Amino acid sequence: MLVTGNDILVPARAGKYGVGSFNTNNMEITQAIIHTAERLRSPVMVQMSEGAIKYGGQDLANIVIDLAERATVPVALHLDHGSSYESALKAIKMGFTSVMIDASHHQFAENIQETRRVVEAAHAMGISVEAELGRLGGIEEHIVVDEKDAFLTDPEEAVQFVEQTGTDYLAIAIGTSHGAYKGKGRPFIDHERIEKIEKLLSIPLVAHGSSGVPAEIVQRFRDCGGEIGDAFGIADEDLQRATQHGIAKVNVDTDLRLAMTVGVREILKNSPKEFDPRKIMGPAREVMSKIVEHKLGVLGSVGKA
Ligand code: G3H
Ligand code: 13P
Ligand code: NA
Ligand code: ZN
Repeated sequence: MLVTGNDILVPARAGKYGVGSFNTNNMEITQAIIHTAERLRSPVMVQMSEGAIKYGGQDLANIVIDLAERATVPVALHLDHGSSYESALKAIKMGFTSVMIDASHHQFAENIQETRRVVEAAHAMGISVEAELGRLGGIEEHIVVDEKDAFLTDPEEAVQFVEQTGTDYLAIAIGTSHGAYKGKGRPFIDHERIEKIEKLLSIPLVAHGSSGVPAEIVQRFRDCGGEIGDAFGIADEDLQRATQHGIAKVNVDTDLRLAMTVGVREILKNSPKEFDPRKIMGPAREVMSKIVEHKLGVLGSVGKA
């Protein structure tokens, strides 16, 4: 069933498990996410960025909404990194049940102001809101505290921010970053910071940049002719620990991008005579489904719906 973000994330925070929030850009990605969640009795979130809305628009949103409505597990359609009040309102009109307003690049006061505007409008329509405080970016374990504090989320500020905006869930900067290149090895995650914020805030917390960039997928990508440098993602153990301490929404895009491309490349390389789209996108959907299955297992949401 199609539900709001709060319907999914409040129980996740209380139950100390994470919910995967996977980006979609087409039907096959959407099916891999929702059908796998259904099979594993897991709640799940499907998110579209502004780029995804530009690419697939209402057509794609309707695919997500239709699959969500027919699913017997809770599914939310979420706007990822909404850049303005207008963008958030547009998504709500399109049928999204959760929106992110990302004003984290603004000054604290302006972030509060912009977020509060979205919260007021969204709540009037029963839609839940994600906001972000801090700057995403990889950090080295040995860097001094001052440097970490410069862009990772400050726990005291997070309390003020939530009180003044009324946001339903909060994305925090804890060492993750977007994309396939998160560090020169296992990225450092600031668990101490997560645990401080967990003690001060009772709302669900959100981790962006949570792809695992599995070595096996990276190798398969190379084996079928893909070019990729030293790619590293967030370790499963780090996500498991984070979900024990308040992280309830876990954003994943890169892993499904890699999986879909590996699926397509492998077929095109191994079966050069193939041009039936179903025989190309079908196997790609299978590769993506395996990634979703692994992630739901790591996050502990299997069997929670
Ligand atoms: O955080 C960004 C997401 O991976 C979406 O990326 O804006 O290219 O669709 P996109
Ligand atoms: P990844 O690049 O790690 O998949 O993160 C995606 C994300 O945070 C989308 O908001
Ligand atoms: Na988001
Ligand atoms: Zn993100």
